[in-house]
Parts: sequence; structure tokens; C-alpha cells
Amino acid sequence: MPTKPDVIILAAGKGTRMYSDKPKVLHEIGGRPMLHHVLAAARLLDPVSIQVVVGYEAGQVTRAFDSEAQLQWVHQEQQLGTGHAVQQALPGISEDGVTLVLYGDVPLISGNTLSALIASLGNAALSVLTLDTEAPAGLGRIIRDSAGKVVAIVEEKDASEEQKMITEINTGIMAIRSGFLHDALLSLGNNNAQGEYYLTDIIAIASQQGLDVHAVSAANEYEVQGINNRLQQAELERVYQYLRSAALAREGVTIADLDRLDIRGDVSIGRDCRLDVNVVLEGPVVIGNNVTIGPNCYIRNSNLGDGTVIEANSHIVGTDIAQGCVVGPFARLRDGTELGAGAKIGNFVETKKSLIGEGSKVNHLSYIGDSVIGRSVNVGAGTITCNYDGVNKYQTVMKDGVFIGSNSALVAPVTIGEEASVGAGSVITSDVPPGELAVARGKQRNIPGWKRPTKKGS
Ligand code: UD1
Ligand code: CA
Repeated sequence: MPTKPDVIILAAGKGTRMYSDKPKVLHEIGGRPMLHHVLAAARLLDPVSIQVVVGYEAGQVTRAFDSEAQLQWVHQEQQLGTGHAVQQALPGISEDGVTLVLYGDVPLISGNTLSALIASLGNAALSVLTLDTEAPAGLGRIIRDSAGKVVAIVEEKDASEEQKMITEINTGIMAIRSGFLHDALLSLGNNNAQGEYYLTDIIAIASQQGLDVHAVSAANEYEVQGINNRLQQAELERVYQYLRSAALAREGVTIADLDRLDIRGDVSIGRDCRLDVNVVLEGPVVIGNNVTIGPNCYIRNSNLGDGTVIEANSHIVGTDIAQGCVVGPFARLRDGTELGAGAKIGNFVETKKSLIGEGSKVNHLSYIGDSVIGRSVNVGAGTITCNYDGVNKYQTVMKDGVFIGSNSALVAPVTIGEEASVGAGSVITSDVPPGELAVARGKQRNIPGWKRPTKKGS
């Protein structure tokens, strides 16, 4: 059984280079704050405790994670360095365990890597996650002795020209025996180029005490990539999206192009589904089996039943779709739309807060708002529910088997009874009894012998 760590996540920094009023760790990857991803990785370790060190705009950060269980916030009023930040969280940590230090702005770290880091501790005082990189500039360098033992970490600003040539860098992520950490932090000074209390100084302290320091190399560079600006954020977003697409493909989803699918938040997809290019799914989205989604579709906070087909360029938000429905192309289903089994919504149809019953069809150019539509109803092209009088919204009811002729306006509140019909071009302002035909339009008049006006001289 691997050791369960006490986790400290450093997140007090301002993130100056984001040029934002929002603290850096609230900027998103995959539709969720960076800090969310770090917390999710930490939770995989079943930790004893999780403390997040916050400073810049701390209120914004804590509010964003209001509902999260088992989370302690630690305030670091002034950002005096990573060592100082860890010190603030230390009172919450018992001396006999292992402390894992994570960064709130390193979002793609995986639970597996963290488990491996903790497992690598052995009898060492600490183990540090390192990376061999062609671009070590700006990062702390790992200093090893002639036997290859890690003896110190030197920050770029304090490094000699020779040390700057070292390509093995400190990712910042460390597993540390908590007893050693308590002692070592007492002797941290800030006599360095930045006048900061460096957490990294505990490596030299361990070495001077004759204690071992282990190092584990990160398997993937993206896992330890920190975000300091929006370019790095955008780059990591692409990595994240690729990883999610690849995971779905591995689990059996057909994806037209792994680089042209974006998934934000919680999304689950059943068996034998197919996603065409430029699909954006914003969770929570639950997709059943045998669902096909055409190109350029945006789907947020919705459920798609088995066998449903979403044709190209559809926009679907807050919608519940039962099995076997066909939607689009160019459909817009807004919040509170519910489609019964086998319903069909065609091109240039907008729906809002409406129930569309089993097997019913709204195939072309319609607005259906605040409506309750029964089974097997046919709503003709260009039908509009007039649900709004400028102040209030009213309901339109179409009972089972209703047929609405094209280009009709149904002025709510109004009920069309079972099996009733509405003639094309009608403006319906009062209820239609079951089985009857309502026609509400000017009667056609034909004028025989009508002569068209003619142009002079022709
Ligand atoms: C740190 C490491 C460096 C490593 C690099 C990896 C030290 C001294 N240096 O450098 O070896 O290569 O990370 O990215 O540890 N933070 C606080 N409070 C503070 C200072 C920082 O919470 O007082 C947080 C920041 O918000 C950030 C993280 O700690 O999430 C790292 O801080 P940063 O200033 O970026 O450290 P670096 O100087 O880059
Ligand atoms: Ca940094």
C-alpha cells in the first residue's frame, strides 16, 4: 500500500504574465480551472489532507472551489518564496507522514507520476521530480556530485555559467518526509539573488546532513509544464484535448480527427458513437450508444439518447434527447428542450423550454418556445409559437396527432386539441377543439380578366 501523502498545492502567485484580473489558477484548461486538474490528480492518491496556499485574489480562488470537500485554504499574505509558502501550510501536517508539494499552475500532472514519485522515496529524505530538457532557461538546475547523487538545486538567477549548462531541471514537484521538512524549513534563509525563501534549499540541507535525495524523471514533458502566460495555456489546452480524444478513441469512440474535437468538463460517451470534425462538447454531457454527431456541432449540458443523429452545425444546450431522434442540420435547441423518442427537429428550427413528444416532427424554419407538444404531431414549415407579449411568456399546447399547416402563428396561451388541424398561413388566437380544422387567414379572391400594367412605349 503506497503512503498516503499530505498534499500542499502552491497557488499564491499572481500570474503577472497572464495580464488578467483573474488569479492564474482559475484560468481554464478543458473548461475547468487549472487548480481543478491539480486537485483531481492529488485526489487519486487518497491523500490524508489537501492544503492550497493562496494569496493573490484569494477570495476569488476559494469561492470558485466552494463546494469541494476536504480542502483547506492557507493564506500567504506576501509571496516571499516557495519555501515560505510551504511554511504557511506546515502547522497542518503531522511529522510522521510524507508531504507532496504540487503547483497550482502545473495542471497536467498525472496521478501515476505522483504515485511513482512517492514510491521512489525509499529511505531518502525527499524525492524530486525532474526533467531533462533542451530549454532549461529560467528553471532550477539539479546539481549532482561525481557519484551522481543529487546534492542541491540552484536557481537560474543564482547559477554559475557552468551550472546553467545543466539540462536537468527541477519541476518543483517533490515528495518530502514531513519530519525532515519541519526541521529543514526552520533553517531556510533568503540570502539569494531574489531575496526569497527557496523551498529548493532543502535539498542542500538534506545533503549536508548526509541524507539521501532521490530524483525521478518525468515521463512526459507536458505533465510538468507550468503555465505562466496564455501562450503556454493555449499549448497545454491542445495537449489536454488530444489526450482526452485519444482516451475516448481507445475506449471505442470513432473520432474523425483527434485534433478537431474539444471536450470540456464531464462528458461520457457510450458504444459505437461517431464524432465528426469540429465538435465541441461542454459537460455535463451524457451520450448513449450508437449516437452520431455531424461536423461543427456545439453541445452543452445535455443528454443524447441511444441511436440519435445530430446533423451538421447544430447548437444544443440544456436539452434532453430520448432515443432515436434526428436533429439538424442547423438546429438550435435551447435550455429546457425535451425530445421524446424518435422526434425530429430539422433545419433552422429553434426550440426553447419545450416538450416535443414521441415521433413528432418540426422539420423546417420554426420557433417553438414554452410549448408542450404531444405524440405524432406535425408542425409545418415556418410555424411560430408567439409566446411573448413583451412582458409575459405564455404556453402553447399541441395535443397528440395535431397537424399545423405551414407558416402558421400560434398566439399563446393557446391549445390545439387532439387530432386537430390548422390551415397553412393561419394566425391562431383561440383554442382549437379536438379533431376540427382551424383556418384563420384572408380568403382568396381571384380577379378574372386582370391586365398587368404595361410600360410606356413597349
Ligand atoms: C520554482 C523553483 C524552480 C523550478 C520552477 C519550476 C523554487 C525556489 N524554484 O521556480 O527550481 O524549476 O519552480 O516551475 O522553488 N508560489 C507561492 N508563493 C510564493 C512563491 C511561489 O504560492 O511565495 C507558487 C506560485 O504561485 C507558483 C509556484 O509557487 O505556482 C512556483 O512559483 P514561481 O515563482 O513560479 O517559482 P519559480 O521561480 O518559477
Ligand atoms: Ca514558475
